[in-house]
Amino acid sequence: MKTAITEMFGIEHPIIQGGMHYVGFAEMAAAVSNAGGLGIITGLTQKTPADLANEIAKCRDMTDKPFGVNITFLPTLNPPDYPAIVKAVIDGGVKVVETAGRNPSEVLPYLKDAGIKVIHKCTSVRHSLKAQDIGCDAVSVDGFECGGHPGEDDIPNMILLPRAADELDIPFVSSGGQADGRSLVASLAMGAQGMNMGTRFIATKEAPVHENVKQAIVAASELDTRLVMRPLRNTERVLTNGAVERLLEKEKALGADLKFEDIIDEVAGVYPRIMMEGDMDAGAWSCGMVAGLIYDIPTCKELIDRIMTEADQIINERLAGFVKGTVSA
Ligand SMILES: Cc1cc2nc3c(=O)[nH]c(=O)nc-3n(C[C@H](O)[C@H](O)[C@H](O)COP(=O)(O)O)c2cc1C
Repeated sequence: MKTAITEMFGIEHPIIQGGMHYVGFAEMAAAVSNAGGLGIITGLTQKTPADLANEIAKCRDMTDKPFGVNITFLPTLNPPDYPAIVKAVIDGGVKVVETAGRNPSEVLPYLKDAGIKVIHKCTSVRHSLKAQDIGCDAVSVDGFECGGHPGEDDIPNMILLPRAADELDIPFVSSGGQADGRSLVASLAMGAQGMNMGTRFIATKEAPVHENVKQAIVAASELDTRLVMRPLRNTERVLTNGAVERLLEKEKALGADLKFEDIIDEVAGVYPRIMMEGDMDAGAWSCGMVAGLIYDIPTCKELIDRIMTEADQIINERLAGFVKGTVSA
């Protein structure tokens, strides 16, 4: 399949693996890129810019296909060393960067000067337009369904994607709730040029996380995510568990008085324990409603090939049949 996104990033299929804390290591990114999609290393999971440089080099040893790096701008008083992170990305010869969080205007000139394509993840049309205005090459439009941070507007992709199509001139991919060939065709129909998946890629053979995490996603239904940290205007969609229920009780009890320190046990530093040790009740971890559509743990190649075959069938058989009047059900 050829779209503005496959052409922009030099990939075979219009499928991107979004940056994911403690999931987006070289093994994950290389597996997705080797399967013809765009794999992405999560920059901030690496403890130092030197570690990130090593992870980029490791990924390059594992694939000769394009891959990207995610740079997330966190709402924190002690920000990571972003200039050094950007330098590691540029020096590593990476050609695609996915930015998220705040708009990336402070790092954009350096990335653009290095010939890097920048796709910014946005949860609203206004942020997408801002990304376009400041010179981003593409946008990842992240609907309310998504795992991670859906923003505070709560607009699902059925509305957000066509709204983005109505407003944007630069290409965009759908993000949030995408799992299969149906997702891809629907995204393309609503104006996207491809799709970004997070949760779906965690439940793959190559995802470098504990088996318990993959099994938890397969076992979960679309009813099993919760929104946490809304009172802090830092909403995150997570898979429910004991720690999340405790966190929500605190939010209810403290109301508008809630501070980050009140929930620190449930959210701070929990990712290594969950993703690496498989301690599934250690705290709140991002997971999308799309868990309800995930039934198996294929390889990345099996997953992407299946998505592309299914998309082809839907477009050329099911939908074409409707148009020709040859299919009645
Ligand atoms: C476990 C997990 C960790 C994530 N960490 C990040 C992150 O560090 N930075 C980021 O920009 N997005 C992060 N995301 C969001 C994903 O990149 C992607 O936008 C999202 O998962 C899409 O929704 P989906 O899970 O329904 O596919 C994370 C998502 C998950 C599930």
